[in-house]
Amino acid sequence: MPKPFHLNAFLMGVGHHEAAWRHPRTNAEDVLDVRHFQRLAQVAERGRLDSIFFADGLAVGPRVAHNVQQVFEPITLLSAISAVTDRIGLIATASTGYNDPYTLARKLASLDHLSGGRGGWNIVTSAGAAEAANYGLDGTPDHAGRYARADEFVEVVERLWESWDADAVVLDEEGGWFTRPDSVHEVGHEGEHFRVRGPLNVPRSPQGRPLLVQAGSSEAGKEFAARHAEAVFTAQRTIEEGRDFYRDLKARLAAHGRSADELKVLPGIVPFIAATEAEARELEEEFTRLISPAYALSQLSQMLGVELTEVDLDGPLPPLPDVSSIETNKSRFELVKALGADGRTTVREVVAKLGGGRGHRTFAGTPEQVADDLVDWVEGGAADGFNVMAPYLPGGLEVFVDEVVPILQDRGYFRTEYEASTLRGHYGLLEPAEPTADVHVA
Ligand SMILES: Cc1cc2nc3c(=O)[nH]c(=O)nc-3n(C[C@H](O)[C@H](O)[C@H](O)COP(=O)(O)O)c2cc1C
Repeated sequence: MPKPFHLNAFLMGVGHHEAAWRHPRTNAEDVLDVRHFQRLAQVAERGRLDSIFFADGLAVGPRVAHNVQQVFEPITLLSAISAVTDRIGLIATASTGYNDPYTLARKLASLDHLSGGRGGWNIVTSAGAAEAANYGLDGTPDHAGRYARADEFVEVVERLWESWDADAVVLDEEGGWFTRPDSVHEVGHEGEHFRVRGPLNVPRSPQGRPLLVQAGSSEAGKEFAARHAEAVFTAQRTIEEGRDFYRDLKARLAAHGRSADELKVLPGIVPFIAATEAEARELEEEFTRLISPAYALSQLSQMLGVELTEVDLDGPLPPLPDVSSIETNKSRFELVKALGADGRTTVREVVAKLGGGRGHRTFAGTPEQVADDLVDWVEGGAADGFNVMAPYLPGGLEVFVDEVVPILQDRGYFRTEYEASTLRGHYGLLEPAEPTADVHVA
């Protein structure tokens, strides 16, 4: 029996390839047009994908001179998208480092209400120094500290989402009751980072709890995911690495009283699709030739957290520090370091390999080859589905939906119609049980 899998469309500007906006297949001005994103969501919905997702950072970063950036705040953008879609899940990135749990719990619960139960949260701790500088800090808080704050943050958000009983709202016009008495509860949280009385000022949302997504691959990141996440985005480049990560993460769940099915692992793939493999490779090359070296080096420096803007593009990657000294994105650092570890691969080649999706796996092939590859990963125990990162938009998503998805459907690996109406339902995850009354602090 084929193992049905899950597909999320990770949408970014006019595509994930660094040079997408310079290629004739895209219109750069689309990044400022809400209708572009609304249409992309409709394309993904036409393909019956589980969800769409927007990443987010809280600083413009050093790349603004050379790249069209993702400009809209995700929850705002997804709210606009919810109005023109019916079924597709809507996952927004939001930081635990630079938000307050109350504000964010409220916004995400609102998105869940507005969309009829399609909201999700990609939980990030915000690793960038530029982000810290926008929030009054002299540097990025250390890795362990960021995850500790994130743990408490998520706990508070979950309790706020649970602060209204499922049947609290009665709208009893005759009796004059908006809510049932004693059905809305304070949370009374006093922790190391937050003091929050509650209750939330939004009733329990249709999913009870928007879907929790996460993307850390460090030790702390994986433990955090095992405790909280229901889907994990990841960036393994080979099926062997994918399998190791998958096994490792799933094995951690039991210690938290969770079954392996309660967390879906979704590695990223940047697919270049054409009628022949040669054409698909040529298409990828076309994009690579458009990468600006200055942009690529500042991107590489940012990814590694090491200043490399002056290095020789045709020389090897200079010696890099040990990962233990890296306080930013540990897993991406290791991934990039490994690409140049043989001492022969030039910086230019490293940059080309990263161009497709900032370190995510690129794959050039025919629709059949792409479908075969995805099936290999799922059947090979390396994935429950994929984070599909079209290199250019909208065309790269359209070709995936129109040519790869039907093959997966024909082979029984992907739904032909939505079977559920909520994001949680698409991922086969149950609504969390309503807490019993004694959990509440009245
Ligand atoms: C597919 C994917 C999407 C991500 N999106 C964001 C994002 O939008 N904002 C952000 O600050 N970090 C984002 N990250 C980074 C992760 O949240 C995390 O910080 C990173 O993987 C490093 O975690 P680690 O130090 O536990 O390895 C993303 C990572 C992946 C793999």
